[in-house]
Amino acid sequence: MSTDSLDKSAYDHLWMHFTRMSGYRDNPVPTIVRGQGARIYDSNGKSYLDGLAGLFVVQAGHGRVELAEAAYKQAQELAFFPLWSYAHPQAIELADRLAHYAPGDLNKVFFTTGGGEAVETAWKLAKQYFKLVGKPMKHKVISRNIAYHGTPHGALSITGIPDAKKYFEPLVPGAHKVPNTNYYRADEITGVPGMSEKDFGIWCANQVENMILTEGPETVAAVFVEPVQNSGGCFPPPPGYFARLREICDEYDVLLVSDEVICAFGRLGTMFACDKFGYVPDIITCAKGMTSGYSPIGATIVSDRIAAPFYEGTNYFPHGYTFGGHPVSSAVALANLELFEREGLNQHVLDNEGAFRSTLDKLKDLPIVGDVRGDGYFYGIELVKDKATKETFNDDESERLLRGFLSKALFDAGLYCRADDRGDPVVQLAPPLIVGQAEFDEIEQTLRSVLTEAWTRL
Ligand SMILES: Cc1ncc(COP(=O)(O)O)c(C=O)c1O
Repeated sequence: MSTDSLDKSAYDHLWMHFTRMSGYRDNPVPTIVRGQGARIYDSNGKSYLDGLAGLFVVQAGHGRVELAEAAYKQAQELAFFPLWSYAHPQAIELADRLAHYAPGDLNKVFFTTGGGEAVETAWKLAKQYFKLVGKPMKHKVISRNIAYHGTPHGALSITGIPDAKKYFEPLVPGAHKVPNTNYYRADEITGVPGMSEKDFGIWCANQVENMILTEGPETVAAVFVEPVQNSGGCFPPPPGYFARLREICDEYDVLLVSDEVICAFGRLGTMFACDKFGYVPDIITCAKGMTSGYSPIGATIVSDRIAAPFYEGTNYFPHGYTFGGHPVSSAVALANLELFEREGLNQHVLDNEGAFRSTLDKLKDLPIVGDVRGDGYFYGIELVKDKATKETFNDDESERLLRGFLSKALFDAGLYCRADDRGDPVVQLAPPLIVGQAEFDEIEQTLRSVLTEAWTRL
């Protein structure tokens, strides 16, 4: 198709995700045709820095021939076979490899096709686990305000973004929310001014305990948390948060689910992000970066302890997906993880994360930048109307600033990233893990010029 026909057909036939389609009635849909390294190219040949690794996915960068070849080779050998009572070598090897990377006794891997399915799987698995061990009332889940955990009904119930949920109510009952770990807004969240980061971490973890006690420990099955919460703008865990959360989960026999759909596979410089913060969950959910996006796959990785009753007698987990653990995706994931090892991608992130942070920190001299936060190659920049009071934008301003100006202006200036207002307005960055100082500088300079212009338009 020519560029003109692509533009027309995109509006006529392609229903894009989480997208106001009316915005494209009279404007062309940005159409990306090619990628190489950390850069993507649109249908007019213009180049952009991929500041979001697609959607927190393309860890190894674009245009990796060896990953394409792994897919080609596997499709020729065995394009498809399900994991429904049969296995294929690629899923076995990948499960073995993931179990090896996962901490503690997280040794059982249930494959899905993406992150939302991995979260859905984890909740169902937790419910069944407690039925099998004689605690059938345990079915509720706790997660954090503004957190995103996917769109299937169960995962959406765990999601804490009211606007993503409102049209789909009633959702799955029993999903309760607690405060997130946004230290920048700790005063508002706790009602106590000037809490130290450590005290705030303990306070946040204790909110989970309060919720367990309010709902009744005999009814609560699991807590779902991201190592660094994406939605709302990259909230890292305050010191002590995960140690206390682990303690609480152990005390009340509640499963700790580490939703690492974004944070796993090097985003923070480790294969699994729980390792970076020193906790061992009962379940890890992951997807996105496992193949660097060269083919879709997700996984729910479960401890031997939780899997044990499913492996007894006639018990089984009545759950699955036709394409879960697809041979082509499994082969690509294995090739991608091999590439991670060979190129030392995790170490590259650990070696450069300090430079990424200090480069972005320079933006704090702008009047519109309230906070710069994150970890590894995963950052959020919170925008405010008044730095002294941390006053945020009202709905109208947010609409004008983020949707009306910023997203497009950043893209026009050659930076693909995300301007998000699911919590307070933030710009989010998660570049491919191969980038270094030259790209950090490019990101900083583009943001500086576009955010300076945004301030004058307020
Ligand atoms: C933490 C988290 N969980 C789950 C999901 C859902 O993953 P998917 O879009 O692959 O269904 C996402 C997607 O961004 C996510 O960030």
